Amino acid sequence: MHEKYPHLFQPLKVGNVVLKNRIMTPPMSPQNHPSDHFIGPNNTAFYELRAKGGFANITVGDVIVDTVHGKAHSFQVHGDDPGIAPSFARTARAIKRHDCVPCMELSHAGKYGGVPCLSNPTATGKFSYGPSDEVMANGIQVKAMDEEMMKHIAQCFADTARMAYEAGFEMFILHGGHGWMINQFLSPACNRRTDQYGGSTENRCRFPIMIIQAIRAALPKGTPIDFRMSGAELYEGGYDIEEGCRIAEVLQDYVDMIHVSAGNHEVLAHIGRTHPLNFLPHGVNVYLAAEIKKHVTKVPVACVGGINDPAMAEEIIASGKADVVCVGRASICDPQWANKVRQGREDDIRKCVRCLSCLNQVKVSRANWCALNMDIGEELKALSGPVPTVAPKRVLVAGGGPGGMNAALAAAERGHDVILCEATGELGGQILCEKYIGFKDDFYDYSQWLVRQLKKKDNVEIRLNTTVTPELVREIAPDALVCAIGARAVTPPIPGIDRPEVIYPQDLKRGEDMVGQRVVIIGGGLAGCDTAVDFHRKGKDVTIVEMKDALAADAEMFYRVGLMLELDKGVKSYCGATVKAITDAGVELTDKDGNTVVLPADTVLVAAGLKSLEEESLAIVDACDRSWRVGDCVRPGLVRNAVQGGHYAGMDI
Ligand SMILES: Cc1cc2nc3c(=O)[nH]c(=O)nc-3n(C[C@H](O)[C@H](O)[C@H](O)COP(=O)(O)O)c2cc1C
Repeated sequence: MHEKYPHLFQPLKVGNVVLKNRIMTPPMSPQNHPSDHFIGPNNTAFYELRAKGGFANITVGDVIVDTVHGKAHSFQVHGDDPGIAPSFARTARAIKRHDCVPCMELSHAGKYGGVPCLSNPTATGKFSYGPSDEVMANGIQVKAMDEEMMKHIAQCFADTARMAYEAGFEMFILHGGHGWMINQFLSPACNRRTDQYGGSTENRCRFPIMIIQAIRAALPKGTPIDFRMSGAELYEGGYDIEEGCRIAEVLQDYVDMIHVSAGNHEVLAHIGRTHPLNFLPHGVNVYLAAEIKKHVTKVPVACVGGINDPAMAEEIIASGKADVVCVGRASICDPQWANKVRQGREDDIRKCVRCLSCLNQVKVSRANWCALNMDIGEELKALSGPVPTVAPKRVLVAGGGPGGMNAALAAAERGHDVILCEATGELGGQILCEKYIGFKDDFYDYSQWLVRQLKKKDNVEIRLNTTVTPELVREIAPDALVCAIGARAVTPPIPGIDRPEVIYPQDLKRGEDMVGQRVVIIGGGLAGCDTAVDFHRKGKDVTIVEMKDALAADAEMFYRVGLMLELDKGVKSYCGATVKAITDAGVELTDKDGNTVVLPADTVLVAAGLKSLEEESLAIVDACDRSWRVGDCVRPGLVRNAVQGGHYAGMDI
């Protein structure tokens, strides 16, 4: 029995399969999906890395069983193409070799199949099939499925399951949540049928049960089927937790596990709840699983959503809220999550910060990213670990922010001797500003994770209060240099900017209430908006003044959706406005219509952006023949730009 986490590391028999612990990975579509919609070699490596990381199972996500009617976006795997079997087999084998259960999620998008929707705005289909006739808000017509179509789809589920089973998959998750087809049948908001497939809970469960029975018939007895559902739909007209409990009560007779997620990712405002953003508490959806568990007595219940803390995971199971925890993005960020917990290395876990960069990039670049784990997309290389250098070099890193620390860490891991110089008395760089913002604790923790990792390296010397100059570079005479000296806050030329009530994000100190009741924030970019949310949560009266027409234009799309919802809770704003002066009366501005407005202010926070230390960084790299500039000193950006630049520089030395 595990001493510290006895519940988390207790095996569990599900159907004819034994899960070696209670930590599953939820379904996640293959990272950086190849255009042929197979599971490419890099995708297989993505899953294998996590199998190696100690999880009980690995779930290949969003395998579409009927791509003609049921495919919603281009990152879904074509489960109805017989040619896909070899890639299934290679993936199952790669997972199994690490004593891990290969699991596959089977899905169908129903009314979102092939037509424009949030998951795929550029789809060209003119109509789709769902539970009921309807015209969606975007004008797309949905046709109600007849029984023949339903039987056809159930058979598609069975056929894909059989092919996957023969290829080596041992467990299946049926996607009955998040707005896809099965969820549409369960949901009174979509299912308005008056036949035996609509109306009562039992009737709405009838088609899902038909699918489960078809899959059962195609698989050997005992093959586990886990039913993924939204415990509550969390939008107007959708079902609530009471109905979620009734659905689970009915379905428990047909499946081997009930897996409780939340919401509907096709309702834009809820994407940050289905994939909980950092504005929400960790484990925000666990209460749904806990409620359902009170009604489900025959099979185990799994929970999911924003779980990245081992102690929380243990408590969930120990207190009986759920039998299994699923760790999704946390496993993207650190594939060794489960092993590190088991080995008592919790401090070494690179914790997911729930920024949703992983999902957002699918929209932007059609590739998955992780803001903090640079192995995403490079899994084949990552399987064999960093290549040790054959010629260790003396490396100087200038700047102890996320870029510099990542460069130092990557170079040290490859065997180079590193001197890391930081001009201030503390490592962390721009992330230290997050220290004040309660809901960004995980970002701050990430900077401390980097510090811990660096301090464990014998070949890294950290010099604080040391400004790197060209002279110092020549004195140290490194073989290679990484310059990550960052940027300085922009001070806009506004009369009154030097008044005592004017502060900058860097001035904020954790745990100290440094701002007055009425706060005006000059600059409505990501930093200003995040801080505004925090101030508002602390009971301040907050107004943002932004020159551009929109707030947080520099934020990633999904994060921005969540941020706007938070701002809407009471932060006031003026967009398209220009600040004219800061006076005794407050902040004087011209609004977008040309009117003069004066906002009384006890504190004025200037978040007007950053300016690269371009000249300084160019002078520094000029002093060493082999050098890199990374992060904000090249161009101010998101943390992930600095992490990426630093990591690759360290790897390339
Ligand atoms: C990159 C990415 C891909 C995902 N793909 C799927 C998928 O294919 N099927 C699915 O049911 N859920 C998918 N999800 C949702 C996760 O299974 C999970 O429910 C969600 O991320 C919340 O859990 P977490 O906070 O532990 O990440 C995906 C999530 C992410 C971040």
